[in-house]
Amino acid sequence: MKRYWKIFLALIIICALPILFLYSGIYNISAMEPHNKLTFWIINTLKDNSIEHRAKNIKAPNLIDSSLIKLGFVHYREMCVGCHGAPGISRDEIGQGLYPEPPDLAKSVKEIPPPQLFWIIKNGIKMTGMPAFGRTHSDDRIWAIVAFMKQLPSMTKEQYETLNNSTKNQDDE
Ligand code: HEC
Repeated sequence: MKRYWKIFLALIIICALPILFLYSGIYNISAMEPHNKLTFWIINTLKDNSIEHRAKNIKAPNLIDSSLIKLGFVHYREMCVGCHGAPGISRDEIGQGLYPEPPDLAKSVKEIPPPQLFWIIKNGIKMTGMPAFGRTHSDDRIWAIVAFMKQLPSMTKEQYETLNNSTKNQDDE
């Protein structure tokens, strides 16, 4: 009987520890302190598998189309540059203060296939600062942004400026 009491007590302590942790304030919620390696691994594994699973039935349209790329650029300029930067443009104050940091999308597009890029832009990513654009933008517009992003790895600062000048009067509606 005594043994059962010990097990029971141990179980209560094991359950109480996480609750004590939650209420103690020990955890540093500051966006200036990076996650530890274990938390980082858990979040990234969860995120990568969730995105891969949810995007598996999405089929990308033809993304090599200059008018689609231009349309995507106009949306990118309006909504993404501040956080993610662009060729010759660094992240603004909001982008620099976010944790996790908004990645350089010229690198991301080499690693993430278009259906997953589409899913990320449409749905956003919980608890990261990456917004969901699916509430305000049609699928066609989101594909246009993906089409533009695919150009980022080979795009120079000068080419970005030329696109910027040629679309000066176009706004993201
Ligand atoms: C308010 C800031 C903010 C804005 C605006 C924003 N993003 Fe993000 N984005 C983030 C953050 C932060 C992450 C990192 C999420 C993470 O680490 O899981 C991210 C991640 C991403 C990723 C995943 C990249 C990777 O390598 O995992 C893509 C793709 C992306 N954003 C595209 C866009 C596009 C396209 C736009 C504009 C339509 C945009 N984002 C606007 C903050 C932003």
